[in-house]
Amino acid sequence: MGWSVKLLPSSVFAIYSCCLHLFILLSMFHLSNAQNATTDPSEVSALNSLFEQWDTKAVGLWNLSGEPCSGSAINDTNFEDTANNPSIKCDCTYNNSATCHITQLRVYALDKKGEIPEVITALKYLTLLKIDQNYFTGPLPAFIGNLTALQSLSIAHNAFSGTIPKELGNLKELTLLSIGINNFSGTLPPELGQLVNLEELRFQGNSFEGPIPSSFSNLTSLTSLDLSFNNLTGQVPTALFTMRSLQYLFLGNNSLIGTLPNQKSSTLQTIVLPGLNCLQRNFPCNRNPPRYANFSIKCGGPMMTTADGTVYEAENSSISAASFTVTSTEKWALSNTGLYAERKNPSYVENNLKQVTGTNTPELYQTSRISPGSLRYYGLGLQNGPYTINLLFAETRFLARSSQTWKSLARRVFDIYIQGNRQLKDFDISMEAGGVDRAITKTFNVTVSENHLEIHLFWAGKGTCCNPVQGYYGPIISALNVVPDFTPNVSGIPSSTRKEKSRTGVIVGVSIFVGVAWKLHESGRSLELMDPSVTEFDENEALRVVGVALLCTQGSPAMRPTMSRVVAMLTGDIEVSAVTSKPSYLTDWDFKDITGNFSKASTSSEASKSKNHNPIDLIPRGDQMHSPLNMTEPRLSDLIGDGR
Ligand SMILES: *[C@@H]1O[C@H](CO)[C@@H](O)[C@H](O)[C@H]1NC(C)=O
Ligand SMILES: *[C@@H]1O[C@H](CO)[C@@H](O)[C@H](O)[C@H]1NC(C)=O
Ligand SMILES: *[C@@H]1O[C@H](CO)[C@@H](O)[C@H](O)[C@H]1NC(C)=O
Ligand SMILES: *[C@@H]1O[C@H](CO)[C@@H](O)[C@H](O)[C@H]1NC(C)=O
Ligand SMILES: *[C@@H]1O[C@H](CO)[C@@H](O)[C@H](O)[C@H]1NC(C)=O
Ligand SMILES: *[C@@H]1O[C@H](CO)[C@@H](O)[C@H](O)[C@H]1NC(C)=O
Ligand SMILES: *[C@@H]1O[C@H](CO)[C@@H](O)[C@H](O)[C@H]1NC(C)=O
Ligand SMILES: *[C@@H]1O[C@H](CO)[C@@H](O)[C@H](O)[C@H]1NC(C)=O
Ligand SMILES: *[C@@H]1O[C@H](CO)[C@@H](O)[C@H](O)[C@H]1NC(C)=O
Ligand SMILES: *[C@@H]1O[C@H](CO)[C@@H](O)[C@H](O)[C@H]1NC(C)=O
Ligand SMILES: *[C@@H]1O[C@H](CO)[C@@H](O)[C@H](O)[C@H]1NC(C)=O
Ligand SMILES: *[C@@H]1O[C@H](CO)[C@@H](O)[C@H](O)[C@H]1NC(C)=O
Repeated sequence: MGWSVKLLPSSVFAIYSCCLHLFILLSMFHLSNAQNATTDPSEVSALNSLFEQWDTKAVGLWNLSGEPCSGSAINDTNFEDTANNPSIKCDCTYNNSATCHITQLRVYALDKKGEIPEVITALKYLTLLKIDQNYFTGPLPAFIGNLTALQSLSIAHNAFSGTIPKELGNLKELTLLSIGINNFSGTLPPELGQLVNLEELRFQGNSFEGPIPSSFSNLTSLTSLDLSFNNLTGQVPTALFTMRSLQYLFLGNNSLIGTLPNQKSSTLQTIVLPGLNCLQRNFPCNRNPPRYANFSIKCGGPMMTTADGTVYEAENSSISAASFTVTSTEKWALSNTGLYAERKNPSYVENNLKQVTGTNTPELYQTSRISPGSLRYYGLGLQNGPYTINLLFAETRFLARSSQTWKSLARRVFDIYIQGNRQLKDFDISMEAGGVDRAITKTFNVTVSENHLEIHLFWAGKGTCCNPVQGYYGPIISALNVVPDFTPNVSGIPSSTRKEKSRTGVIVGVSIFVGVAWKLHESGRSLELMDPSVTEFDENEALRVVGVALLCTQGSPAMRPTMSRVVAMLTGDIEVSAVTSKPSYLTDWDFKDITGNFSKASTSSEASKSKNHNPIDLIPRGDQMHSPLNMTEPRLSDLIGDGR
């Protein structure tokens, strides 16, 4: 043992240093040759013509005219470096290292205008073309299908229009195809099913219509498919729900229908659903009789008592893309649905030590809860009657406008719903507060009639998406308190039988226990699925929730649908037939918001689109990869589409 332990590091080091030397030698060799190699002249003129039409110049790190494959195009400069934009990369190993070909081209978020010109087909060796977040117009031309070496094609957040050419199906090497948030229309060509290496397909936010081609079932490498916010119709191919590699499936805001395959599972699992029942409409928790008449929450932080004696309860459990927390006292609860698709280290809490002005208690604002989708706080077991709700906000992440930096242009815009009714649309904290790091309280009067209060902060796709970091957007809240406008006669003391810790779970806990569900459902004993400690609940409601879960059942645990599918169904994106009727579990199927405006008054250069939609969460992904997930774990913290 000791012998190998000693030897291992040094031998590893030997190999390492040997490799290092080899590497240095090789790269010197490569560089000296590269310096002599010349770029294919037809590519040089094509690139020049392209950049001229796009009114674009090379940055100082490489040369456009003389020798494009120079400087940052051939050394170790990061292709995606912000200073290296527009950027190219070349491969100079052709013809015995005498010829360079351009392999990557990026013109990213530079507000460039123009179309995709035919001259681009001269760049035959392109494996990556990335021109997201500009103001490019015109079609995605058929000749794009001649760039057969392409592995990554991303043109999202532009103003492209027209239909998708079937020639796109020739790009068999593609692993990423991202054309979201443009003005494309027409049907999806079946030829897309030929792109068998595709891992990500992002078509969201266009005006595609017609069905999802059945050929999509051939996209067996697909891990992420986003067709949300289009006008697709017809059946969802059932094959989509059995694709093994698929982790994210966004189908929201379309007119799709579909039944999910209902095969039964052979495995049994333990039922873990504590607290979830509290979040259902007609929830049973502390309802008969009600117990509470006020609550205060320190969103995203520890308990805090303010000078006026208000005790803000801690709300600092760790939450994920789709999770809920119910306090041990079942006094209030929190649910979050929203996936930071573009952020490297997603966090659902904003922490800083800023001294917020406009308040006696700046410490209340040093932590905040943030969500890229929907954040809901629920008051549970409340005595019915009129209440005053105070929501405490401060914008603590953005820089002041006075700094006159790009980062100061960040805008956070979200909507506030209470009891399902929109109270504020396009709420912008710093604008209302008159700047960043200033406290602002929004007060609402509502009536609680079913012992239940729901405060919902919803990101409807507006504001900046990527400032100060990629994938930063969505509602934020520092604290809230709810007080009765009447003299309560409830005890305010929790029932003594409750356990101590608050309970956090994954919203789609439902899908985890389908194995058990089937078994019981088959024998007509579905109600045994409910938390046995719960004695009062709405039987029909419970059965509906179970029914939704059952629709999601797959043959084996590994094939069980991931959360995206479950949530999509729960939110009404897909009509559930047969087994269930409408559940009102967490979300409200009947909700329609016809006045909501989806116009991205955001960052830069978007097609000015104005769309009505159900405020189902839209997650416009730009160009970064999702944070990796371990799909073998039943965390299901992936996706989302959220109702309302
Ligand atoms: C580069 O080209 C020049 C002239 O064509 C030649 O003399 C020189 O040896 C070449 N250098 C390398 C490293 O190939
Ligand atoms: C650009 O080209 C000129 C002339 O060919 C050369 O002197 C210069 O070093 C090149 N710049 C870079 C960044 O490679
Ligand atoms: C790559 O070349 C550019 C232009 O010559 C230079 O500014 C940069 O420092 C080089 N970077 C690396 C990592 O060698
Ligand atoms: C090799 O060089 C010749 C002459 O410059 C050129 O025509 C040909 O395209 C090059 N081949 C490759 C694979 O780059
Ligand atoms: C694209 O490829 C097709 C078939 O090889 C060819 O007929 C056509 O001319 C090419 N188009 C361009 C613009 O290169
Ligand atoms: C979107 O495309 C349609 C035609 O498909 C066109 O009439 C419309 O002007 C385009 N809208 C924008 C904002 O480009
Ligand atoms: C899947 O691909 C195979 C082979 O290319 C083809 O025969 C089949 O028709 C495709 N399936 C669908 C549903 O398009
Ligand atoms: C969606 O499709 C329906 C039916 O084809 C059509 O009536 C409607 O105008 C389309 N909506 C949009 C936004 O394209
Ligand atoms: C989806 O959004 C479009 C406009 O963006 C709207 O016209 C349509 O009604 C929405 N469809 C659904 C199913 O919500
Ligand atoms: C809310 O109700 C309280 C008590 O009835 C009243 O004093 C207050 O003005 C109301 N506030 C708003 C914003 O309507
Ligand atoms: C909140 O309820 C508790 C328990 O009934 C009570 O002691 C406390 O005074 C209430 N606080 C407010 C601000 O109404
Ligand atoms: C994923 O989880 C499984 C089981 O927990 C573990 O064995 C595996 O190493 C994990 N893979 C990664 C990439 O984290």
